Amino acid sequence: MTYQHLISTRDGAVERLTLNRPDVRNAFNEHVIAELTDWASRTRDAALKHDIRVAVIAGAGKVFCAGADVTWMAKTVRYTEDENLRDAMAMSQMFAAINELPVAVVGRVQGAALGGGAGLAAVCDIVAADEAALFGFTETKLGILPAVISPFALAKVGQAAARELFLTGARFSAQRAKEIGLIHDVVAIADLDAAVERHVQEILTAGPEAVAAAKALIPAVWGRPIADAMPTTATAIAARRVSPEGQEGLRAFLEKRAPAWAKTP
Ligand code: COA
Repeated sequence: MTYQHLISTRDGAVERLTLNRPDVRNAFNEHVIAELTDWASRTRDAALKHDIRVAVIAGAGKVFCAGADVTWMAKTVRYTEDENLRDAMAMSQMFAAINELPVAVVGRVQGAALGGGAGLAAVCDIVAADEAALFGFTETKLGILPAVISPFALAKVGQAAARELFLTGARFSAQRAKEIGLIHDVVAIADLDAAVERHVQEILTAGPEAVAAAKALIPAVWGRPIADAMPTTATAIAARRVSPEGQEGLRAFLEKRAPAWAKTP
């Protein structure tokens, strides 16, 4: 698929994606959703082949992402219920595909992440944001609902923040976004690229298969009673210990050297 609204570049083991509709603040319509879903599928394949170890998602221009394209959503009034359902499922599948990528996904947020843009931040594993960026689950302000993004946003911010922010649709600061767990770094815009790179380099020092296993472990364990989760956690660590990667990591530590996969300190 040739992308009209995305720029995807490969930089060694780092996949860099830029949403590229700056005129509408990188809002996504059905075409962007199809492209993002395709990108997630290709990125997954590349990760499984060990071609990439981390993905960075950014937005071109002043704003990371203004969420769903309001012009497109307004048109959906003419769609049948089935067509609306199909569209919403496609958007859900896009978020799920990014959420489940077996590599670390780092978000670079400048300007704003609103509605589905905040959802996109929620499916990133690590997010660095410009200190002036605005966040919001703004859907109720438009008379709609943060439905599709709710599982991903709730997993990050929890019910207490969601009960305020989903209901009011209020915009909130990067500092607040950090306090509720939606993002991780708040920096001056001039320092944003460096903050993203710090996370990228940190990931490149971790075992690639261990990173994927750690990412899969979180939803597998979250919300389960400890006794119920125990077989999952024990199986997961036992598998890592005997894996070539786990053995290399443990040996490298004992031999006081960098493991084979480590790129930079
Ligand atoms: N869908 C479609 N178009 C959008 C959009 C969206 N979600 N967000 C912004 N745009 C368009 C604007 O209509 C405007 O188009 P125009 O140049 O033809 O007038 C253009 O993008 C620039 O928007 P503007 O508001 O002038 O940019 P800004 O940099 O001052 O502000 C935002 C950026 C993101 C803060 C602001 O555009 C905004 O609040 N957008 C709505 C976000 C929202 O509620 N999203 C939830 C959707 S569910």
